[in-house]
Amino acid sequence: MNIPSSFLALTFASILTLETWESSANEHLHFLRCLSLHSPNGDDSISNLIYPQTNSSFSSILNFSLRNLRFSTPTTPKPLLIVTPSQPFHVQALVICCKAHGFQIRIRSGGHDYEGLSYVSDVPFVLVDLGEFRSIAIDIENNTAWVQSGATLGELHYRIAEKSQTLAFPAGGCPTVGVGGHFSGGGHGGLVRKYGLAADHVIDAILVDANGMVLDRKLMGEDLFWAIRGGGGGSFGIVLSWKIRWQYVASKVDENLFIGITLSTGPNSEERQRTRTRTRTVNASFFSLFLGKANDLLSIMQQSFPELELAKQDCIEKSWIESNLILAGFTNRESLEEALLNRSTTPSFIGAYKVKSDYVKEPISQTGLPGVWHMLRTTDIDSASIVLLPYGGKMNEISELEIPYPHRAGYVFKIGYFIVWKERGVDAAEKHLNWSREVYDFMAPFVSKPPRCAYVNYRDLDLGRNNEFGKGRSYKEASIWGVKYFGNNFKRLVQVKTRVDPHDFFKHEQSIPSYVLY
Ligand SMILES: Cc1cc2nc3c(=O)[nH]c(=O)nc-3n(C[C@H](O)[C@H](O)[C@H](O)COP(=O)(O)OP(=O)(O)OC[C@H]3O[C@@H](n4cnc5c(N)ncnc54)[C@H](O)[C@@H]3O)c2cc1C
Ligand SMILES: *[C@@H]1O[C@H](CO)[C@@H](O)[C@H](O)[C@H]1NC(C)=O
Ligand SMILES: *[C@@H]1O[C@H](CO)[C@@H](O)[C@H](O)[C@H]1NC(C)=O
Ligand SMILES: *[C@@H]1O[C@H](CO)[C@@H](O)[C@H](O)[C@H]1NC(C)=O
Ligand SMILES: *[C@@H]1O[C@H](CO)[C@@H](O)[C@H](O)[C@H]1NC(C)=O
Ligand SMILES: *[C@@H]1O[C@H](CO)[C@@H](O)[C@H](O)[C@H]1NC(C)=O
Ligand SMILES: *[C@@H]1O[C@H](CO)[C@@H](O)[C@H](O)[C@H]1NC(C)=O
Repeated sequence: MNIPSSFLALTFASILTLETWESSANEHLHFLRCLSLHSPNGDDSISNLIYPQTNSSFSSILNFSLRNLRFSTPTTPKPLLIVTPSQPFHVQALVICCKAHGFQIRIRSGGHDYEGLSYVSDVPFVLVDLGEFRSIAIDIENNTAWVQSGATLGELHYRIAEKSQTLAFPAGGCPTVGVGGHFSGGGHGGLVRKYGLAADHVIDAILVDANGMVLDRKLMGEDLFWAIRGGGGGSFGIVLSWKIRWQYVASKVDENLFIGITLSTGPNSEERQRTRTRTRTVNASFFSLFLGKANDLLSIMQQSFPELELAKQDCIEKSWIESNLILAGFTNRESLEEALLNRSTTPSFIGAYKVKSDYVKEPISQTGLPGVWHMLRTTDIDSASIVLLPYGGKMNEISELEIPYPHRAGYVFKIGYFIVWKERGVDAAEKHLNWSREVYDFMAPFVSKPPRCAYVNYRDLDLGRNNEFGKGRSYKEASIWGVKYFGNNFKRLVQVKTRVDPHDFFKHEQSIPSYVLY
């Protein structure tokens, strides 16, 4: 063992003052010793990456990639420690020592989990924040890259665009979303019809498993490699990096056209008072990405959607990377660097929010849309948007068994319900959560069934029951949400989980359960 005595003394002092750190100080000393013991000879770098609650940087590190203010209240449970590993052996040591000491962990890459599962837990836990694992190595010759989990989608899109204007990776457009969670749950954006999901283009990965082993695709085996590409984050291990291949974005088939619709509430009552507008309006906006020239788009639109009366001045011709930014809600004034590389800007969500998802096979009936319209027009909640994202194209060609993400052939579009509010406090949260459930209940007859499908990257703890921590983890209970997210793939995910993490070390309210325990 090789621990500098000054390090021990300092750590000891800070731990003694930490009231929430429940058991004896001695145990925590052992925990820190364990971390050093599992570091290569003499390398004590991990000791500088540990932030107890008493550390003056604790709150800013916790806040840094905390996106949903619903989970940033005085009563939101905080981690015992935040650790920001920067080397694979740090992560290995963390897994081994947290397991040995019975600490739960939460894994955070970009922190965009809609239910805050990457940084909140009802039991004492250690937050493993991968923000330092963010390098991107582009191999332009082979159209591949190794991307670490803590990199953001903005950084990834930027690094590819730096090398080529015609190569692109089919992932979401929001620049601050983390690669780690996004790839773990599938991941889609404006190229979904042409190329499918981000996870469809992962060809290798490096993961630290429940035994603290570092595994690549060959070592982990095809079953586990299958599970981590869409089975949802936080169930199978800590993925450090992903090897991806990307695609050319210039050709001439219909999958080149992507048209989505957003229905959103107009000004809320406060804004209406201020601006003296009487009614609440509903704003329906069509957003579209076409991989080609404006003139080609105009002729397709005149044939297929003449009622939209698209004119040339409605179109902006831009490089792929710039159009992707417009799709993500940027105004086109920011530089690429500002928009893509700033890890603390998110144009679309400011405040607390709740998100739900649906998938649709049949066009929504005549009663459906006016009903939603009415709900949006009459509600007094802060703001809500219902976003219809087109499917089809490449999504119809990929088997639902290929990766865990099953919602493929036959789905016309996916719906996202985004309810965002500024007011803090339990009452405001309850009011907005209630409304999200009302609109979701209203939509039931118009969407996929049975089961009603959902997208694991749009995490929703309303799905299923007994979601309190550690409960509801029998196969039967978990399959209530599991089958919604993963369809027939849920069973195989449970089998993989049972093999690679039988004692359920990697666990949260909606992680895949193991047969051995439950
Ligand atoms: C503003 C915004 C825009 C979005 N836009 C899109 C979009 O365009 N398309 C789309 O498909 N989705 C979109 N999403 C959803 C997003 O894809 C998911 O929330 C995704 O899981 C976020 O990844 P993350 O790394 O930022 O999140 P985190 O909160 O860090 O992680 C999400 C989950 O994965 C686990 N996890 C994180 N990192 C790892 C890892 N390295 N290994 C294992 N498990 C891990 C976490 O524990 C957690 O359970 C958006 C979300 C937000 C908030
Ligand atoms: C906070 O933690 C970091 C990382 O361990 C350390 O470098 C720093 O000195 C600590 N600051 C204080 C005030 O304890
Ligand atoms: C982190 O966010 C919380 C809640 O919004 C706030 O009270 C706190 O001051 C923030 N901490 C820092 C360092 O900004
Ligand atoms: C491209 O891949 C080949 C085969 O894997 C490899 O030998 C070569 O070094 C790669 N090119 C670059 C630039 O890394
Ligand atoms: C309607 O929504 C679009 C796209 O989000 C936005 O650009 C526009 O300003 C909105 N219009 C109104 C009146 O709110
Ligand atoms: C990043 O965005 C934040 C929030 O908008 C802003 O305060 C900050 O100055 C930006 N940083 C850079 C380097 O542009
Ligand atoms: C939310 O719904 C619950 C259950 O229907 C109800 O008891 C509660 O009063 C509602 N809360 C608000 C703020 O509307």
